[in-house]
Amino acid sequence: MKKIIVIPGDGIGQEITASAVEVLKKVDAKFGIGLEYDYRDAGGTSYEKFGTPLTDEALDACKKADGVLFGAVGGKKWDSLPVYLRPERAIFGLRKGLGLFANLRPTKVYPELINSSPLKPELVGGSDLLIVRELVGGIYFGPRCESETKDGVEQAWDTEIYSVPEIERITKLAFETAKLRRGKVTSVDKANVLAASRLWRKVVVDVAKNYPDVELNHLYVDNAAMQLVLNPKQFDVIVTNNIFGDILSDEAAVIGGSIGLMPSASIGELTSLYEPIHGSAPDIAGKDIANPMGTILSAAMLLRYSLKEEAAAKAVETAIDKTLADGWRTADIFTDGFKRVGTAQVTEIICGNL
Ligand code: IPM
Ligand code: MG
Repeated sequence: MKKIIVIPGDGIGQEITASAVEVLKKVDAKFGIGLEYDYRDAGGTSYEKFGTPLTDEALDACKKADGVLFGAVGGKKWDSLPVYLRPERAIFGLRKGLGLFANLRPTKVYPELINSSPLKPELVGGSDLLIVRELVGGIYFGPRCESETKDGVEQAWDTEIYSVPEIERITKLAFETAKLRRGKVTSVDKANVLAASRLWRKVVVDVAKNYPDVELNHLYVDNAAMQLVLNPKQFDVIVTNNIFGDILSDEAAVIGGSIGLMPSASIGELTSLYEPIHGSAPDIAGKDIANPMGTILSAAMLLRYSLKEEAAAKAVETAIDKTLADGWRTADIFTDGFKRVGTAQVTEIICGNL
């Protein structure tokens, strides 16, 4: 048996993970994988029950699992809590605790949704890129000061630190992934200004020597942000640090038309975690209108990367393609002339297409 820990989290996290589990059950019945599910809380939901956004027990359960399926966390209700109790802390606790050093965020343009993209169809059509974001280092985890007084003036600071092994690890993964794709890596940094970026670039160049068949280029992050919307087709794999990856992956999500469809995999040494890149959308929670496709596609990545069930992963992706091709649309991607459906119904349709 393969143990999956499901962490629905807050807001629409509940309904979208329920959808993804339904799809996993269907695919399991078809491919005979032998999946077992166990549920844990995180975020505001965990805070309400246990007084902390992530319990040690939940983290331990994840460590022992074959894969973690995560919904989303956060909500207005918990915004005024001190930083260490906020729902987002659960995400950092899981990333650090599970050593999830690489976040893979693929952007794919669905031909059926090309008109939902705010960008020109001829510009985005055919783009297919993968952002490989470093996830447990850099300014997100460096020393910081929330407030101090210097010469009578209040200030605050954060620190960007990267070590050679940290950069090597993420770069290798990016190159290995590029070998399985179109063989191109773009490293994004700010080496014209930041010391940590200069080390980043040096290490990337060194690692690249072991991958003569993979093409490497470098872009400064400001230019990369512009190139993503000017000419997204030039990219195959983008490798970058934690904060640049955070920013660029939201931007890249626009290329695909809807953030509701974007999955992600956070790869760790012990286990890996899969989640949609959108948030918990408390305003639409429990209304049966959220798009579960990003989470279902994240479950497909779990099948692919953690369970090595490529055929099952493909089957899930194909079922989503078919659902879209048949004209079914949740509210976030609905346009005139298509068939509008809610979370439960679209899940049923996807299962039917498996
Ligand atoms: C993401 C999110 C998180 C991040 C937030 C919720 C802390 O934006 O996963 O991209 O900044 O990493
Ligand atoms: Mg983000």
